[in-house]
Amino acid sequence: MGGLARGRVTEKGRPLIAISGTPGTGKSAVAEALGPRLGLPVIALNELVRERGLGRGSYDGSMVVDEEGVHEALKAIDRPSVVEGHFADLAPADRVSRLFVLRCRPRELADRLAPRDYSLEKLRENILAEGLDTCLIDAVTALGEERVSEADTTRRCPEDVATELEKVLRGERTPPVPGRFSHLEEALEIVNGLGGVGPDVMLH
Ligand SMILES: Nc1ncnc2c1ncn2[C@@H]1O[C@H](COP(=O)(O)OP(=O)(O)OP(=O)(O)O)[C@@H](O)[C@H]1O
Ligand SMILES: [Mg+2]
Repeated sequence: MGGLARGRVTEKGRPLIAISGTPGTGKSAVAEALGPRLGLPVIALNELVRERGLGRGSYDGSMVVDEEGVHEALKAIDRPSVVEGHFADLAPADRVSRLFVLRCRPRELADRLAPRDYSLEKLRENILAEGLDTCLIDAVTALGEERVSEADTTRRCPEDVATELEKVLRGERTPPVPGRFSHLEEALEIVNGLGGVGPDVMLH
């Protein structure tokens, strides 16, 4: 069995601490706060994709990522690092010590995304993804429940969330079992209230 040696925040042979979550949940902000506290570099996946030419624009303005390329690039990292991006579940599972999925109440998420130049469709898609636990499901599918933790960012600041993550990593706080957030109802209220194209989404 692996396990953490004294003072370590990553397990031997598993140098990566991954931070995932719906766009706007605060992955970049939290990673920037967490990395220096742990003395670890932060790898932003969207920058890695850009620098290495691993993405191309698609017809709707979003980015299509070369998943295999990202996977290989992360596999080559030996030094303990914090990796953040909403496709952090692309990290090679056997190289990840812990994957945090950041969560945010859909109403606040909509406020955070408002200043961005998103189409109504993209806004709806992201709010709905938060409601449907999409990033959590991807994370647990990739790693299993044991190494996946969620953290709420609603009405908190990134430093505060980073403190929570640091405590989990240092073994000072037992992370709750994943799956405790129920964001679907609020997400549907918002998505249906946004108007624009597309049918109303119903909860059956
Ligand atoms: N508790 C919090 N934790 C993290 N970010 C927060 C928090 N509260 C507010 N924010 C704010 O939310 C906004 C979105 O954060 P950020 O850009 O880091 O999200 P992201 O998940 O990296 O998004 P993307 O997937 O588009 O890169 C920022 O303005 C950030 O400061
Ligand atoms: Mg970001």
